[in-house]
Amino acid sequence: MRNEKNQKLILSALNGLVTDQVPFWFMRQAGRYLPEYRELRAKAGGFLNLVYNPEMASEVTLQPIRRYGMHGAILFSDILVVPQALGQNLKFETGEGPKLDALKSPEDLNKLNFENIDKILNPVYETVSLVRSKLKSEGFNQTAHIGFAGSPWTVACYMIEGSGSKDFSKTKNWALTDPASFQKLMDILVEATSHYLIKQIEAGAEIIQLFDSWAGILDEANFKKWSVAPTKIIIQKIKAQYPHIPVIGFPREAGKNAVIYAQNTGIQAIGMDYAMDINWARDNLQNALPVQGNLDPQILLEGGNKLEAQANKILKAFADKPFIFNLGHGVIKETPPENVKKLCDIIRNFKS
Ligand code: CP3
Repeated sequence: MRNEKNQKLILSALNGLVTDQVPFWFMRQAGRYLPEYRELRAKAGGFLNLVYNPEMASEVTLQPIRRYGMHGAILFSDILVVPQALGQNLKFETGEGPKLDALKSPEDLNKLNFENIDKILNPVYETVSLVRSKLKSEGFNQTAHIGFAGSPWTVACYMIEGSGSKDFSKTKNWALTDPASFQKLMDILVEATSHYLIKQIEAGAEIIQLFDSWAGILDEANFKKWSVAPTKIIIQKIKAQYPHIPVIGFPREAGKNAVIYAQNTGIQAIGMDYAMDINWARDNLQNALPVQGNLDPQILLEGGNKLEAQANKILKAFADKPFIFNLGHGVIKETPPENVKKLCDIIRNFKS
């Protein structure tokens, strides 16, 4: 038997326990709102240079922990390194989003291959092990290292569109009009993503989060097919080798479909976006599994009394059952670091 009392706080919450302190971390906690991030990014000469430099990427992962002592340290990387490792060209230009050579037809799937996957992703695994050793040597005994990947649906959105988009209509159109070849792409992504996550776990990741940022653009039938089903297989593959590693799923803007996701994927906990109604989530999600979320990052950016009020509302609603405080999406780059400090203090001082 594991001694549950010796578990890191966030792992206790994921294992269904309520602790005195509410564990917390924030999506995009490592990033542009921090001056020390911007400095290192400039030194690296670009985002991807930073991602593929284990020494620097591990520093970026640790930066917010050193300032604020979050209970989760999310790996500094990106969901789009998987398509890159499969052979798709990827660029990040300063001030713009990602650019990939878009997949235009089923024939383009033949360009994807697994030959160089580990050669390309090895630096990421090295970052993971460096993060684990730095957390230990710097005394962050309550901070767990979170590995991550994008869910196949969301990654496919960028692979087919070639960049960000409002509605990812090319991707939806492909999935709806030619589901057989779209399934082939999903199968490739399920395989690559499971492999990538298992390698992160072997290197030292203690928790995995799957980001399905564009789950919300699918209707119920397609949500089951393209979000739930691939996620379920990835989790089965992880659990077959590492049954104790918790997986948090974040099906952004899935609304009521989040219940289907929670019941059918095998996730340990569900991430709630900021559009999700707190009382609804309490009754329909947290009754069955630990939840994570869901402060609007815009409120964090604004700060002040509104931040205090909304953070407390979320804490009051969720803290008496297994809960991890997070944002409902990533930290916005203009967020003043002192607002992040204020939020951490509010969560730390909360008594249920
Ligand atoms: O702190 C962390 O959360 C860890 C690192 C992390 C990044 N991206 C770093 C990053 C994580 C977990 C991600 C996930 C990610 N990447 C998602 C899923 C979560 C979400 O936001 O919905 C998605 C869709 C991507 C793809 C991506 N990466 C886009 C669309 C962009 C451009 C938009 C933007 O915010 O700039 C990125 C760039 C990116 N990923 C940055 C960072 C710190 C900014 C790069 C820079 O420094 O210029």
